[in-house]
Amino acid sequence: MSQVTELQQRALAEIEASGDLRALDELRVRYLGKKGEVTAQLKALGAMEPEQRKAFGQAVNALRDRLNQAISERRAALEAQALKQKLLSERVDVTLPGRGEHRGGLHPVTMAMERAIAIFTKLGFDVATGPEVEDDHYNFEALNFPPHHPARAMHDTFYFGDGRLLRTHTSPVQIRVMERGEPPFRIIAPGKVFRSDSDQTHTPMFNQIEGLLIGEGVSMADLKGVLHTFVNAFFERSLAMRFRPSYFPFTEPSAEVDIGWEKTGGEPGWLEILGCGMVHPNVLRACGVDPEQNTGYAFGMGVERLAMLRYGVSDIRQFFENDLEFLRQFN
Ligand code: FA5
Ligand code: MG
Repeated sequence: MSQVTELQQRALAEIEASGDLRALDELRVRYLGKKGEVTAQLKALGAMEPEQRKAFGQAVNALRDRLNQAISERRAALEAQALKQKLLSERVDVTLPGRGEHRGGLHPVTMAMERAIAIFTKLGFDVATGPEVEDDHYNFEALNFPPHHPARAMHDTFYFGDGRLLRTHTSPVQIRVMERGEPPFRIIAPGKVFRSDSDQTHTPMFNQIEGLLIGEGVSMADLKGVLHTFVNAFFERSLAMRFRPSYFPFTEPSAEVDIGWEKTGGEPGWLEILGCGMVHPNVLRACGVDPEQNTGYAFGMGVERLAMLRYGVSDIRQFFENDLEFLRQFN
């Protein structure tokens, strides 16, 4: 009996002192497991005299119950302690100042594009689109560029080698629109175009907005009027603007429009923003429009160039470098 008392004192002390759940479980196995010390005492009962067995059996059973209870109490305490520690280590200090939130913003070229589209929409133009992958017919032939015409060389075209090409301008949308419908036409066609070209004012991919207005009695004066209106609305400040005679196979007469700006180094100069002109009779005829009845104008403007002038960016390539320091200025 004194052995049982001694065993209980030792076991209870060790259970109380156990530092974590693993140590506690080892104690459970040591005392109450199949080969444990308490189990060994129960096994010893078989060899005892009946009257001795009864008293001893009760004592060992009581010991086993006592230890089981002590172990589950200790386990509960250890678990509570572990939870408390975990909560402490994961505590969030809600009184700390926040990290701040950065609002995203539109890319300056997107802003310029949306601004230009909004102005033309207010002027009554509908928005039309066409594919970026075109063929020779729509990009050149139907626009009055015969094969081997020298003006093709100005376009630095990306060819696929199977007759398809990346459109070099949005002018093929003029053809697609006129083929599909009947005059009058009053559309703009915004979109990406591609040329093998790169310097301070040229990138291999850029955006154009094509304009096309065809109807009875439309003149060059209407073209000048709409472009002046656009430039004033777009820039909201008076800028030097000039019409310069130019050449496109699909317009006659043709012009280009330049805006006064400061190049890098503060040198004054002109930046070309668009090409335009009166749609050539050959183009109208090829699209089934009678040039004796209908005339009209077309223009194609460079959206990145508009963005450069509006936001004071002197190198067009900055728009495509994904430099966040640069882009955040426009938020
Ligand atoms: C054309 O693309 C003609 N399709 C425009 C046109 C339409 C004329 C309708 C008549 C009637 P041009 O190649 O000049 O023309 O380009 C038009 C504008 O696109 C230029 O004025 C310029 O603003 C812009 N641009 C041209 N090449 C680049 C380039 N590599 N990077 C950025 N912008 C460019
Ligand atoms: Mg040009």
